[in-house]
Amino acid sequence: MKRTAQQNDVLIDGLTRRFERQKPAVDYMAEHFGAGPVADFGCGNGIPLAYLAQRHPDLFFAGVDHSTDILDRNLARSRPNVLLVAADLQSRTFPGESLGSAVFNRSLHEVYSLFGEVGLKLAVTAARDALRPGGHVLVYENAVPSRDRVALRIVTEEVRELFARFIRDYSIRPVPWTQKTSDTIVLQEDDALEFLTKYRDPDWESEMREVHFLYSLEEWDAVLTSCGLEKVAVRRFDDRQILATDGVEPGWDIADFKHVLVYRRPV
Ligand SMILES: C[S@@+](CC[C@H](N)C(=O)[O-])C[C@H]1O[C@@H](n2cnc3c(N)ncnc32)[C@H](O)[C@@H]1O
Repeated sequence: MKRTAQQNDVLIDGLTRRFERQKPAVDYMAEHFGAGPVADFGCGNGIPLAYLAQRHPDLFFAGVDHSTDILDRNLARSRPNVLLVAADLQSRTFPGESLGSAVFNRSLHEVYSLFGEVGLKLAVTAARDALRPGGHVLVYENAVPSRDRVALRIVTEEVRELFARFIRDYSIRPVPWTQKTSDTIVLQEDDALEFLTKYRDPDWESEMREVHFLYSLEEWDAVLTSCGLEKVAVRRFDDRQILATDGVEPGWDIADFKHVLVYRRPV
């Protein structure tokens, strides 16, 4: 979505407030940087990148994004230890064995939404090849807690209509669901979480083409391993406050779903 400068300021304000809660995950990623350079693949507005570049003045950072509009407004733009590069994550932007670490901070689900698993694997493999042996790939993403069927009570007519729109408009996968009682539906947990991350988002059109819950931890492991990486560590970070809750009552205990996945190029 193309935004005006004023809309962008409002967005940056909201994201900066939200970033306060993400700092522990970003700090945990930074613990694995080692020697640089560090590439931030899908750096976006650069809120985490500017924070990292300021906290690690000794490291050189490259921020990569395919949106030149977003890069123009990137908050890390004027930092002396940051270079911004306009490129698709699926392409080989950096020479082989030239990077110390590769960060994918909430960008791989977008690559998957646009280009499927093939595109996601291309992006991860390109980053793996750019790393020196032993260099880390750091992924911050959701993991699907389960695909068990869960109950969602919808208590307002407005949210009932939004759910009907979601079922009709969500283009990533079909959402099987059944009516359990007059106000309660039953659906898979990944689809229920997908709905709860989207029904209050003002950019409905984009959200209907994007997946937030694509893989379980085991599936992430299989994909990253198939790209020639090995697991170092996985840590959970509670980000459940991003779920909207007005007009709905989830009938199950929602587990933490945000994770930092630490993998490395084998030595
Ligand atoms: C949700 S934003 C995250 C931005 C930033 N990492 C953060 O945490 O604030 C995802 C970013 O990935 C970028 N992106 C998605 N697919 C891409 C691709 N195929 N090539 C390059 N950038 C991509 C988008 O333009 C967007 O800026």
